[in-house]
Amino acid sequence: MNYKRMPIEIESPEQMGYENVKYNLTESSVSDTVFGNIQLSISDLKLCYGNHIGKPELRKLIAAESPLLSENQVLITAGAASALFIVATTLLEKEDNMIVITPNYATNIETPKAIGCEISFVQLKFENNFSIVVEEIKLLIKKNTKLISITNPHNPTGIVIPKETIMQLAVLAEENNCYLLVDETYRDLNFNDKYAIAASLHQRIISVASVSKAYGLPGIRIGWLITQNENLFETFLAAKEQIFVCNSVLDEEIAYQYLSKKEIYFDEIKKHISRNKASLLEWMANEKRMEMVHPAGGVVCFPRIINGEQRNVKRFYELLNITYQTFVGPGHWFEMPDYYMRIGFGWSNNEELKQGLQNISRCLDETSEYQ
Ligand SMILES: Cc1ncc(COP(=O)(O)O)c(C=O)c1O
Repeated sequence: MNYKRMPIEIESPEQMGYENVKYNLTESSVSDTVFGNIQLSISDLKLCYGNHIGKPELRKLIAAESPLLSENQVLITAGAASALFIVATTLLEKEDNMIVITPNYATNIETPKAIGCEISFVQLKFENNFSIVVEEIKLLIKKNTKLISITNPHNPTGIVIPKETIMQLAVLAEENNCYLLVDETYRDLNFNDKYAIAASLHQRIISVASVSKAYGLPGIRIGWLITQNENLFETFLAAKEQIFVCNSVLDEEIAYQYLSKKEIYFDEIKKHISRNKASLLEWMANEKRMEMVHPAGGVVCFPRIINGEQRNVKRFYELLNITYQTFVGPGHWFEMPDYYMRIGFGWSNNEELKQGLQNISRCLDETSEYQ
């Protein structure tokens, strides 16, 4: 394995110091939940090794979302990130090929890179509303393709991939004896049109998700992967046992108790996101120097500066970060030009979000052309 740190992690606000970020539009989640604000009863918890697959009651709760799934198909992991790591290191070796959409959450690309396998990229294009063209993926399939990897709702664009596309890709995976990874870490944030857990749709689909984004619980590092394939599940479990044996029982207990009564908290979260999304859309409608593909799910979008090549983008970010203490996810976090930017609209309170967006407009005023 050839590990390299990713810009999105090096430049993340938690690494830069939250105290240096006044208007935080970098985040892809709702704001962090405070321990004391959720009703938990944990004083009797035994700090033992946990069940290696994961706390059974937690798995049951996750599987209960689909009548087609059982808790024995859910493997609890340390966040979605470790689930992605387990999937990539289980399915890919140096001589293999994987097909991945780009832009994407960096780990979906970096772990296969660290393994050293061949990666075929499918570039999602702004001009095509960042949609996936199945034919393009079909053309890239090779004899040694082991994995097709997509993210839905998509990070960084917020597009939602139609079920028909996912099914077509699953069939393609089956025909070519490989697997389809659907990273659906943002699934619970697609509350207007919630769709089935992808792994419940087909034997060839592996779903990955977590409690980090929708519930503001990234600090407890609880995620999961789901597959209906028993042999594959057993190998994923072997990988988990070799990496960390089991999850933190404390993390599992918090996730279980929170998810058992998530509706209590989630109503407020939904209202907050709707309010912030309305502010984002209003700002974007008036900001004629930028354009955006509408984010249908999640709490991020990936707009770009029109004619961005002709603007002094370096100066734009200097002003934004230093003068206005405002941070977004610059394009290079996603291997795209920096005149694209990921704006997270779920993390800040409404006033901060609106001010952060105004600050982007002010930086556009102040960098009207390339200097
Ligand atoms: C698409 C996607 N997958 C996985 C993750 C990892 O999330 P976590 O490990 O906190 O569950 C992220 C985090 O940004 C993400 O955006």
